[in-house]
Amino acid sequence: MKTFICIISLALCACLFASLQELKKEEVKAINPTAADCMIRDVVVQQGAVGTLPNGIPRYSVVILNVNPKNKTVMNVHIKCGWFASYNLVDPSIFRRLAHDDCLVNNGQPIPTGQAIGFSYSNSFSYPMTVSTVACS
Ligand SMILES: *[C@@H]1O[C@H](CO)[C@@H](O)[C@H](O)[C@H]1NC(C)=O
Repeated sequence: MKTFICIISLALCACLFASLQELKKEEVKAINPTAADCMIRDVVVQQGAVGTLPNGIPRYSVVILNVNPKNKTVMNVHIKCGWFASYNLVDPSIFRRLAHDDCLVNNGQPIPTGQAIGFSYSNSFSYPMTVSTVACS
């Protein structure tokens, strides 16, 4: 039902993380380097179950956070997302599937260090999400 956008400070995010961690913690991904300044591990994807829709379909909350240690802004963040689909509308400018296993975050726009992109989606199961590519300003 509700799609939300959060572009918030790290401090605010800590709050969200704390609540997510009480829920089923699924994903904290940190993988391979791509570019010199920005690495896949600079972007953390965390998701957890956050209850169900009135029709019983589970709902999941996702936070995509730039944790680059050198204060670099990341952009063109792509996520491996399978056949991502949601019963509730997810704002496509926040997160949308471009192709199988390729979802684009924030319309490819910059995400400064310490800022997060958040949304929720609903489906019978959660989609494992890992970062596939990031670019750096
Ligand atoms: C991080 O980068 C932003 C934008 O470039 C800048 O305004 C800020 O002062 C930087 N912070 C630190 C700790 O370097």
